[in-house]
Amino acid sequence: MNQNDQNLSAYEKAAGKGIDPRCIPQKLTSSVPVDNEIIYPEYPDTDHETWKTLFKRQMKYLPGKVCQEYLDGVHKLNFSEDKIPSLKEISSVFKKETGWKIARVPGLIHEQNFFELLQQKIFPSTDYIRGKEELDYTPAPDLFHDIFGHMPLLTNKNFASFYQMFGEAALKAEGPLRTKLETFHWFTVEFGLIRQKEGLRIYGAGIVSSSGEVQHALSTEVEVKDFVPEELVNQPYEVWHLQPVLFAIESFEQLEEGFKEWTKRNNLLK
Ligand SMILES: [Fe+2]
Repeated sequence: MNQNDQNLSAYEKAAGKGIDPRCIPQKLTSSVPVDNEIIYPEYPDTDHETWKTLFKRQMKYLPGKVCQEYLDGVHKLNFSEDKIPSLKEISSVFKKETGWKIARVPGLIHEQNFFELLQQKIFPSTDYIRGKEELDYTPAPDLFHDIFGHMPLLTNKNFASFYQMFGEAALKAEGPLRTKLETFHWFTVEFGLIRQKEGLRIYGAGIVSSSGEVQHALSTEVEVKDFVPEELVNQPYEVWHLQPVLFAIESFEQLEEGFKEWTKRNNLLK
């Protein structure tokens, strides 16, 4: 690894190794539609069927595995199996619950754009869905991952507050601290677990939206570590495999406070 490689995101490093070009982050060159400006696409029936297949399958696996705050979010957002949700309607629920909004983006966006949007309490989302040939796995972002995976927790006040701070901290971080924040994102937003009174539960979007991960994440094949930010940011991981190590928070308050303290210690936030 040369000096420059250290500043690349995990996805950018993978792109250099011949990974699907849809996974190469794009820099936004013009403004993107936000909230009320988002137009609902004319989806073909096959796209709604894909949503229905994926939605029904994940909702069958998730009871007893996913955290209560996620299920509360699904309820608030009023998802239905029959129709791909509208980003504009989700955005209006966000505004009421946590003050967030949605921006419609064309695909995986450059991390600078991503962090700038998060800092402004705007979650960037795609509005296209994977093809039938990629039902089980798609390496590229799509609306099933963005909407079903990410959006329910953005109705939770502690999670939403943590995520806004994350964007703010990431914009200030440079070099190794940026890499640590990327790792933090991986083990929380994408692959986080939480201990609840009923037992260990999932909250990360990468698990929630994947049929393979949802069955693997709570199995004995995974080593579950306690949420200790300094340890978590130094944990190695690989983007393209089932995860052997995960971290469990005790609550979303702990995630918010733990992140805040870690950023203070590293002079990223006051
Ligand atoms: Fe994601």
